[in-house]
Amino acid sequence: MQTMQLYVWILVAGEVALGLQRKHQHHQYDQRESSVAWDEGVNIVGFIEKSFAPKNGLYLPKCPISSLFGKCELADFEVAHGTVLGSGGYGKVYLGKHRPTGMAVALKQIQREKFNPRHVEHEETIHHSLSHPYISKFHCTMRDDAGNLFFAIEYIPGKNLGRRLGGRHSVTRATVQKYVAEIVTALEYLHAKCIVYRDLKASNILVSPKDHIKLIDFGLSIYDCDDQLRGFAGTLEYAAPEMAAHQNYGRAVDYYSLGILLFRLVTGRLPISRGDYNMDKREFLDFVARGFHFPSTGDKIADDLIGHFCDRNIATRYGLNPATHKHIRNHPFFHGFNWNTLAKASFQEDVMVSFDQLGLGESEMITLDKLAGFDTDFDNSY
Ligand SMILES: Nc1ncnc2c1ncn2[C@@H]1O[C@H](COP(=O)(O)OP(=O)(O)OP(=O)(O)O)[C@@H](O)[C@H]1O
Ligand SMILES: [Mg+2]
Repeated sequence: MQTMQLYVWILVAGEVALGLQRKHQHHQYDQRESSVAWDEGVNIVGFIEKSFAPKNGLYLPKCPISSLFGKCELADFEVAHGTVLGSGGYGKVYLGKHRPTGMAVALKQIQREKFNPRHVEHEETIHHSLSHPYISKFHCTMRDDAGNLFFAIEYIPGKNLGRRLGGRHSVTRATVQKYVAEIVTALEYLHAKCIVYRDLKASNILVSPKDHIKLIDFGLSIYDCDDQLRGFAGTLEYAAPEMAAHQNYGRAVDYYSLGILLFRLVTGRLPISRGDYNMDKREFLDFVARGFHFPSTGDKIADDLIGHFCDRNIATRYGLNPATHKHIRNHPFFHGFNWNTLAKASFQEDVMVSFDQLGLGESEMITLDKLAGFDTDFDNSY
């Protein structure tokens, strides 16, 4: 087990004040991610807006009712030993079971001492409000006596895209076309609701059993339709130049990140990584803001589409401008792909996985209300 530190930058009125906000134990997943060339880095948040809200008050969950489960109670959910799905900046994500229905769920823990109420409120209210085939379904929020929160989210079996790629050319062109097209429709849906996702990257995308993408993690999402956001929020390697340059920004940053992700899907690696340049975070952002020579994927058609998504000029960048929607769909990269096969926004592919079918019958289970006082020395082997 290895400890890594997750830094949150606080950028105050253009002056950088470094503050350690997030620090958590990482397990196998993070060791792998940090020790390889395609390391995605960590996501960081910095707001020019006022200081963070006080951390000591008990947060009142905004979404205690699920359309599927009714009122969510801690005692109705249990987690199994050895089944941590991932470690996030705020806590672990556990594989759990909703006892009354027997359904498997992902339980995202937000540890009391780590959370910022404003971010958490954005995450739960935004995620809960979404209903889209390519976005994981958010069931409900619960709080334990110690003040920790748990988000119950549709469990998507399988690896996130970052782990799935594994640094190799393991994704066929047809699959990349489909994943990117699905992400485009998910972004169009979010952007129509004035939601800026802000953390599009491989590890925030899961692939459903029917091989469709599912966006998870709305921890950095925020409402904005006027390009009035300030400060940094996201993952360095995916950051748009306007954000890196401290300019006002908006939804177009998501398409820049999509360009970076497309590069990664085609090549298995990131176009630039902080590790390549031995820069600190500030220097890396300056580098992105100034502009750098974008490497080639070795595929001219993919390079062209990536160039449009990563266009430094927001007015001509593909994605947000409605005039560019058809440019994306007609781009030669999508040759042979039928956009009409994409699911309609009204169709929700709920992933209904029965916990017992996962074959973890022998695992020791503990209900969420008891988890806080328990020595959670779970491994991350699932
Ligand atoms: N619904 C889910 N089904 C299956 N696995 C999940 C689910 N939600 C999260 N995970 C796993 O847990 C990992 C961390 O989840 P998530 O990104 O939501 O946490 P986070 O705290 O926001 O993380 P980070 O700060 O690193 O972005 C994911 O990369 C994924 O592997
Ligand atoms: Mg994440």
